[in-house]
Amino acid sequence: MSPAGARDPRVNDRLDQLADYPFTRLRRLLADLAPAPGRTPLVLSLGEPQRPAPVALIEAAIAAHRADWHRYPPVAGTPGLRQAIAEALTRRYRLPADLIDPDRRVLPVAGTREALFLAAQLVARDGAGGAPPVVLMPEPFYAVYLGAAVLGGFEPVMMPATAATGHLPRLDEVPGEVLARTRLCFLASPSNPQGAVADLGYLGRALALARRHGFVLAVDECYADLYDQVPPPGTLEAAAAAGGRLDNLLVFHSLSKRSSAAGLRAGAVVGDPALIAAFTRLRSYGHAGTPLPLMAAAAALWRDPDHVDANRAAYRAGLDAASAALAGRLGFVRPAAGLFLWLEVGDGEQAARRLWAEAAVKVLPGAYLCRADPAGAARGAGYVRVALVHPPEVIADACRRIAATLAP
Ligand SMILES: Cc1ncc(COP(=O)(O)O)c(C=O)c1O
Repeated sequence: MSPAGARDPRVNDRLDQLADYPFTRLRRLLADLAPAPGRTPLVLSLGEPQRPAPVALIEAAIAAHRADWHRYPPVAGTPGLRQAIAEALTRRYRLPADLIDPDRRVLPVAGTREALFLAAQLVARDGAGGAPPVVLMPEPFYAVYLGAAVLGGFEPVMMPATAATGHLPRLDEVPGEVLARTRLCFLASPSNPQGAVADLGYLGRALALARRHGFVLAVDECYADLYDQVPPPGTLEAAAAAGGRLDNLLVFHSLSKRSSAAGLRAGAVVGDPALIAAFTRLRSYGHAGTPLPLMAAAAALWRDPDHVDANRAAYRAGLDAASAALAGRLGFVRPAAGLFLWLEVGDGEQAARRLWAEAAVKVLPGAYLCRADPAGAARGAGYVRVALVHPPEVIADACRRIAATLAP
């Protein structure tokens, strides 16, 4: 049944298996409430960077390519963009110079969201002896992983990522029977919402598991450059350490957070050359291609490390502000990386309503980043997610209001 009412026989019935998108659910949750009067509303529900993008770099690149608007863009991206992505990731992860062949191992995409979604269209869907094929994912998750699995016709299988597991899924606890049916496994490091970082050993074991069982490992590293002290290792590094083959691996990177350029819609998939070739073919049938001037702008951002350093420094200042207001309260953990706080609040939906009505602060209930069981219970129900996207003084104000409302 569709959340909106009776099912529409013209619409793919798999859509009915998905809850509304988290922000739609949040709008519904708060629809009958006004923000606390007399206070500036602060929206910390959405992980949209609020720092300006490097506009001068973007505009210079677009101006230099103003003659290209009449051209259809190549679906595999331009050689210049692929080269810029390969160089940026080689520098970031200190990879051997020949590991990321830009023509065979890199596919520019329009942000990681569409690419993560398409990954489930890419992989094989034959079951094991008639049983449904599986997509594994951490829970809580980025909602697109679940959408990709369900709309792709897979059985989604959750791997709990809780305080008890260090907020990373325990791959060694996935039953052998499930691994035998697994065609795709999503992982995120740094993770959303907890900001947990997998070490090189973890990533290497995940890759070895994927190869042993023949599934595709899709690692979402879109927060890789927003870290506190230590640069999170990447799965490309783990692959390099294991001999340099990229079989069964797809790694997802984005300019949205790294460069505060979510509106540019620029990302990259890097990995197994056979999978990259198939991904390119898949996109030729279903994707419009990123306009050439925007690909030139993306290449300029991948080539420039300075604005990324400035972004990271701003992110750190936001973390300092959050720590000062919340340390010792609501299970506050200073995340190693990523863009969010994951706070223990008892009942996440109730806390989100109170924060909006009493403090004019909007946050996302943790339950909306998890799948409800048949009884309606969701793993993250005791949490809220707080996006640290604003300037430090706004984050400080919001976190003080959160503390005063929920943990006075
Ligand atoms: C974990 C995760 N992956 C992927 C994305 C998609 O980002 P984009 O499509 O802008 O690269 C997001 C966006 O919030 C995210 O949180």
